[in-house]
Amino acid sequence: MVDIFEKISKSRGPLGMYAKVAHGYFTFPKLEGDISNKMIFRGKERLIWSLNNYLGLANHPEVRKADADAAAEYGFALPMGARMMSGNSNPHEQLEKELSDFMSKEDTILLNFGYQGMVSAIDSLVDRHDVIVYDSEAHACIIDGLRLHIGKRFVYPHNDITNLEKQLERATKLVADTNGGILVITEGVFGMSGDMGKLKEVVALKNKFNFRLFVDDAHGFGTMGKTGAGTGEEQGVQDGIDIYFGTFAKSMALIGAFISSNEQIVEFLRYNMRSQIFAKALPMPLVIGAIKRLELLRTQPSLKDKLWEITNALQSGLKNAGFEIGNTQSPVTPVYLNGTIPEATNLILDLRENYDIFCSMVVYPVVPKGVIMLRLIPTAVHTLENVNYTINSFKDVQKNLKAGKYASDKIVTSLL
Ligand SMILES: Cc1ncc(COP(=O)(O)O)c(C=O)c1O
Repeated sequence: MVDIFEKISKSRGPLGMYAKVAHGYFTFPKLEGDISNKMIFRGKERLIWSLNNYLGLANHPEVRKADADAAAEYGFALPMGARMMSGNSNPHEQLEKELSDFMSKEDTILLNFGYQGMVSAIDSLVDRHDVIVYDSEAHACIIDGLRLHIGKRFVYPHNDITNLEKQLERATKLVADTNGGILVITEGVFGMSGDMGKLKEVVALKNKFNFRLFVDDAHGFGTMGKTGAGTGEEQGVQDGIDIYFGTFAKSMALIGAFISSNEQIVEFLRYNMRSQIFAKALPMPLVIGAIKRLELLRTQPSLKDKLWEITNALQSGLKNAGFEIGNTQSPVTPVYLNGTIPEATNLILDLRENYDIFCSMVVYPVVPKGVIMLRLIPTAVHTLENVNYTINSFKDVQKNLKAGKYASDKIVTSLL
């Protein structure tokens, strides 16, 4: 027998093992000041490329006013209790109605957090007779939802439609015995690599197989499609998505999320989703803030146009400069370099301290050993000057990386 605390003291977890050296700089950094293209990090202004503030709504004057007015009028206590018991309100229902109209779905349920909502939705939609088939690069909230599923689950390699077909064949055989159903879960835009889920191809498989499609479009809502209604709209298959998930945490720069589907499914979720039944409703200022953001998202297409102007300039500029950015089809912009984890750390340090550029770094085990991924998130509040400056700075650090300037097991203090 072991003591739980002793076990934890020996095994700190894949990221926790770096906590002592990384905390406050590489992990848990504090970005201060108004949310914009430039913010303060450790007392100095830096160019920020790591916030999912796609449309620049976080600090939009109309948004700030709506948030402040709603907080002054209602406070954060209202409504009290879960929606089902005592926490329902007209603004909650208004927001659900407006989201349904925007998403061209019959009904919508608000979720307090995207992550929890996704986990709980998966938990409530399937039982032990059902099979879930999912993409191998699915977000943690999908993976954690699967952990609650006591029936079978089959994974297909990322966006591999031929393999998905095989998994659907297996699943179809299995549910013939269990008398269950099949739920396919994938994403609209994959948040690390930026490529889209092949929704069109997945939907086409409905001609051959009997399944329902659940799409997590956290990064696609507000950024993809003609009106911003997401990746289903972008690929012309909105109707083929049976259950659509979007979060407020990215394009809307808020907290909360939603699921849109047909009336019966949403009613089922309202009465069966444990994360909503057993938790307090979204506070009123968040709901009213979301109504304002949705209005801007719908009525100001220039925000999405600007996001894409910056995205296209950044991605084509990086490619023209010889950088490897993978297969992104969305604003998410990964830049792949080769190097060790200490090299990645020193490179980030150089970028932050000497170029005043703040971006996220992703290393093994999220990407293969020897790969350093810098992840840039363009927004509508960036400028073309920001883009050019960043590409030139990236050229410098790539040169340094290749010249071995960052090669050391320790932080290269000369960079500080
Ligand atoms: C693909 C995906 N799904 C779900 C979530 C969770 O959303 P939330 O931040 O609203 O909990 C995120 C956010 O990180 C995400 O990227």
